[in-house]
Amino acid sequence: MKSFLNEKQIVIGVSGGIAAYKSSELIRILKKQGADIKIIMTENAGKFVGALTFKALSGQDVCAGLFDGKDGGSIRHIEWAEEADAVVIAPATANIIGKLANGIADDALSTFMLAVTSPVIICPSMNTHMYESRPVQRNLNTLEADGYIIIEPEEGELACGTTGAGRLPEPHYIADRLISTMFPSDLKGKKVLVSAGPTREPIDPVRYISNHSSGKMGYAVARAGEYRGADVTLISGPTSLPPVAGVKMVSIESACEMADAVFDQAENADIIIKVAAVADYHPKSISEHKIKKEEDVLSLTLDKNLDILKELGSRKKDQFLVGFAAETRDLDQNALKKMKEKNLDMIAGNLVGGSSSGFGSDTNQVTLYFSDGAKENLPVLTKDEVAHILFDRILVSMDGGRPAGK
Ligand SMILES: Cc1cc2nc3c(=O)[nH]c(=O)nc-3n(C[C@H](O)[C@H](O)[C@H](O)COP(=O)(O)O)c2cc1C
Repeated sequence: MKSFLNEKQIVIGVSGGIAAYKSSELIRILKKQGADIKIIMTENAGKFVGALTFKALSGQDVCAGLFDGKDGGSIRHIEWAEEADAVVIAPATANIIGKLANGIADDALSTFMLAVTSPVIICPSMNTHMYESRPVQRNLNTLEADGYIIIEPEEGELACGTTGAGRLPEPHYIADRLISTMFPSDLKGKKVLVSAGPTREPIDPVRYISNHSSGKMGYAVARAGEYRGADVTLISGPTSLPPVAGVKMVSIESACEMADAVFDQAENADIIIKVAAVADYHPKSISEHKIKKEEDVLSLTLDKNLDILKELGSRKKDQFLVGFAAETRDLDQNALKKMKEKNLDMIAGNLVGGSSSGFGSDTNQVTLYFSDGAKENLPVLTKDEVAHILFDRILVSMDGGRPAGK
């Protein structure tokens, strides 16, 4: 299963800030995803972390000076710029930010940056007063206007003893933003509503009825939408997953709360993808106190929940509505029935129970069914890959057709 960074050429620029050590972790994360990493460090970065560390972690020679190539002067800065799929400067000092904003090219990193044509992410990191100073803010605005992606520093305790904005964000977050640059912004301007995870139907103050949904598929769909420029809202039942960067999160517990949250957001959405495993029934009454172990047999009476997807289908205007069907048998029959009954435009069906598909796993094998009768069997893929294919097909369908054979 390939990662989205597999064999991508990524250049990391490291400048002389206290957070320079964090770029080691960034290199490790990106290498793990299969990226080919090259490091260009400023002379001052070398005061914080040695080139040898970066060489060992990246597995490549590090560029630490414009004229330090094996043959004396070299033009690596041009070659690397031409090859790069993306560039990230982490940490970016006030100094390198000022140089980039003004086109100064007086060392390897700043010279290389003028030759780069790929997406660039700048991660400012410095003392709060430095960060908030007019020149730094002016320079960051200039860089943003020039098309650079600026990741704002986090607030917190800084190495200089002050508290405020200036901390380099966690390397996992920087890596996530870097991955997002690998995708086209073909969902820009679209509002996407995604639901994910299980619901919990309370029985008493300490117990509930739920299901095995991990939320991974829905979170992958939200992430893919955000990567591709959509304005994404994710309504999520309880999961153990970290929030998705750049996505508006709404947390709910019960099916009733899910319904309220979905209907609240649905009207404005262009694309609605309901991945959540919403309970079909809820206990008719919720015991005020914990039910004691007294009876040999305890019966619960369950009431049917509102069918959110069906309601969305009946309210649907100029929207693209996608459902998921997790079945244990008769996938074709059940998925097609669900699509028709609920007025869906597409349904992604999968048989749950296998090790590479369904609840909890990182992979999924889905079959896509379209309202015009077309069907597409996908192989076992990561949930992230499935999510991107889903959006590929949605965009083609919204555009009025599908390629032949699909
Ligand atoms: C101990 C120490 C820590 C520093 N930390 C930072 C920092 O976090 N961010 C920053 O912008 N500058 C920091 N500086 C100042 C930069 O190192 C200085 O501006 C330098 O000229 C940056 O050079 P470069 O951008 O070429 O790497 C620090 C300086 C020292 C002595």
